[in-house]
Formats: sequence, structure tokens, C-alpha cells
Amino acid sequence: MGKDVIIACDFSSKKAVMEFLDLFTEEKPFVKIGMELYYSEGPEIVKEIKKRGHKIFLDLKLHDIPITVKKSMAVLSRLDVDMCNLHAAGTVAMMEAAIEGLTREDGTRPLLIAVTQLTSTSQERMEKELLIPVPIDEVVMHYAHNSKLAGLDGVVCSPLEAGLVHEICGDDFITVTPGVRFADGNVGDQVRVMTPEQAKEVGSDYIVVGRPITAADDPVAAYKRFISEFIG
Ligand code: C5P
Repeated sequence: MGKDVIIACDFSSKKAVMEFLDLFTEEKPFVKIGMELYYSEGPEIVKEIKKRGHKIFLDLKLHDIPITVKKSMAVLSRLDVDMCNLHAAGTVAMMEAAIEGLTREDGTRPLLIAVTQLTSTSQERMEKELLIPVPIDEVVMHYAHNSKLAGLDGVVCSPLEAGLVHEICGDDFITVTPGVRFADGNVGDQVRVMTPEQAKEVGSDYIVVGRPITAADDPVAAYKRFISEFIG
């Protein structure tokens, strides 16, 4: 399974993202496109970035009734993205439908990754608003287990959870982990962070890095440093 650094391209326009990608003359980084860019520029932005030779994680976090998710995933699959995601809270049936929709006629499909509980959801809100009265870590692991049962490839999680996810769901189950910072870097608004080396040690498969690369004085050098500390 390919370990890689995925750059979170959290830009609001095509112009900004293309200017950023133009900086990379040799490397073709794996990039994450989120809702903001996708909703402002539409599917064309995916096609254009793909045409430039980048792998794409389309981070749209689908969550709807199974048939709707199935049909929508079929559309994303035709866009030829490499990885996409959904909310495990949509149930095992929804996740199974998603895989059916994603699978192309030739049997290939993009990797499918689940979001468990968002890191913005606190224990208190989960109990009071969502009426889930168990420790949030247990919910995360239970949702990861459900995702595995449904046939998904992995989950988005904190690097702090990657080890346990692998223990419960197996080494082949992919962990995609944001919240990674250089030891000498600015943490920003991320609370629980790990360095690339630590993420590697705990078994993260893909790290998702945004501002430490996109806002760096030299984004290409920052990207290369993440690659060498995480993979090299
Ligand atoms: O700029 P930064 O490295 O913090 O960006 C991390 C990326 O990972 C952002 O696109 C953010 O939305 C995403 N993410 C996260 N924490 C999660 C899930 C996704 O930071 N729990």
C-alpha cells in the first residue's frame, strides 16, 4: 500500500489552486480537493488537476440515503478520482451502496474512506445533541469497524488513533491522518498534532497536510521535507 503525503488544496478558486500547483515543476503531489473548491469550480476542476497528472482525494463526505449515495458515487467514479469519502454515520447499508456505485465496469474503483466522528464534535455535544452516550474513542473505533465490515478501504482519523484503528481493523485498513506538523512548525488551530516521523511510527498510511505546505515561503521545499520525514 502506497504511503504518501496528500496536500490539502484548501483554495477557493481555480486561479489560486493552479498558481499553487504551477510551483511543482518536477513532483506531482497527491492533492485533496474539498467542498469549497469543488462547489465553487465544479467537476471541471477535478478533470483539470487530473489531466496535469496529480492523484486526487475528493473530500466531499457524502451522507444520504443509500440509493442517492450509490448514484452520486458513480458520478465521482467517472471523474476518475483516486480516493473519496463518506460519513460512516450513514450506516453499513449506505457504505455498501457507495462501493457498488463506485465500482466501474472493469471492476476498478477509487479508494473509499470513511469519516467517523468529526474532530469538531465534542464528547458533550455527541451525548447531548446526538444522544450517543459512550466515550467518543469507542464511537470512532466502532464506526471504523463498521466501515471495514462494509468493505471500505479505511478511515480518516487523528494520527493518535491510527495505531488502534490498525489493531481493530487490520494493517491493510488505510489510515488517512490530518493534524501533522513539523516539530519546529506552527501548530495553528490544530490541537492534537504529530510530526511526520511520529505519524510514520504509529502507522499512518497517508498524511493530509494543508497550510504547512500551502502557506510556506517555499511550498515545494516544505512538501519535499514532509515526504522525506514521512516516507524517506
Ligand atoms: O492546514 P491543515 O494542515 O490543518 O489542513 C488539514 C486538512 O485536513 C484540512 O483540509 C482539514 O479540513 C482536514 N481535516 C482536519 N481534521 C479532520 C478532518 C479533516 O484537519 N479531523
